[in-house]
Amino acid sequence: MKNSVRVKIPASTANLGPGFDSLGMALSLYSYIEMKRAEETSISLYGEHLKGIPTDKTNLVYKVAQAVFNQAGVLIPELGISMYSEIPLTRGLGSSATTIIGAMVAANELIGSPLTREELFTMATQMEKHPDNVGASLFGGFAVCAWDGSTAHHISFDPPEHLEVLVVIPRFELSTTKAREALPSELSFQDAVYNIGRTSLLVGALASGRYDLLSAAMKDKLHQPYRAALVPGMAEILEEAPRKGALGAALSGAGPTVLAFVHQEEPDKQGLEAYMIETMRAQGIEADTMWIKPDLRGAQLVSDEHQSTFMDIIKGEVKA
Ligand code: HSE
Repeated sequence: MKNSVRVKIPASTANLGPGFDSLGMALSLYSYIEMKRAEETSISLYGEHLKGIPTDKTNLVYKVAQAVFNQAGVLIPELGISMYSEIPLTRGLGSSATTIIGAMVAANELIGSPLTREELFTMATQMEKHPDNVGASLFGGFAVCAWDGSTAHHISFDPPEHLEVLVVIPRFELSTTKAREALPSELSFQDAVYNIGRTSLLVGALASGRYDLLSAAMKDKLHQPYRAALVPGMAEILEEAPRKGALGAALSGAGPTVLAFVHQEEPDKQGLEAYMIETMRAQGIEADTMWIKPDLRGAQLVSDEHQSTFMDIIKGEVKA
């Protein structure tokens, strides 16, 4: 049992093209959560991405922590919670999954870790309704997940080491609910087979470092074509980016962020970045870009050997 814990949790991208609700990858953008036992609940949020989030007991971190305590049969009604996040909300970078995983790992650690990571994974998937983002944020690396409504299975491994990720984040929000409403209720057998082939190829390509297969393996007929109208410029980027230096490109999760996998040694990274921004701009969409890496560790405890404050730890961790 502890009085205080701090965790660092990565963002994630889901689907990676064909692997709808099945594939995820943790990304080197982070949220930080501190959780303490307290006399009275207080919730402090830092950073521009958490503006407007509730600071009472309806806060997601508080509610998820209570679900963990409940599951473990422990009563801790009052908590001191602090959170900082680098992850833009409602853009397809898994911010809600990051928050759920952070709250679960922190709450479980606070009470001596009675629940296993597998149990947390199943609980988190039940809350998110799909396992791809939570699996990546919890376990790190590339996560292959399966969920049948009651049990979540996964296998995760490190993606090839020269992989960089260019994320193009449009300056508008798109809720997962709206992006899922755009999906059809039925698919043709042919399209299902198409996606099984591409998903399998993608897992194999990432497991064996076959960069040359990524472009073909990231094609999808299950969700991206139906979501294209919600993200102007996306369809063209997915088609063209491999000819402009990307190894492959996909809608990140439910969007609107679009990402490209790029080899670290690619000579024309700036050209690719400019192409993606210009293609969205031509459709009237302004977007911000970031070059990040896969995160290989997943949710982890932040040690506090020096008794620093939460904000000291953030200042030491976050790049300007
Ligand atoms: N697999 C989910 C979807 C991810 O595409 O709807 C949402 O973040």
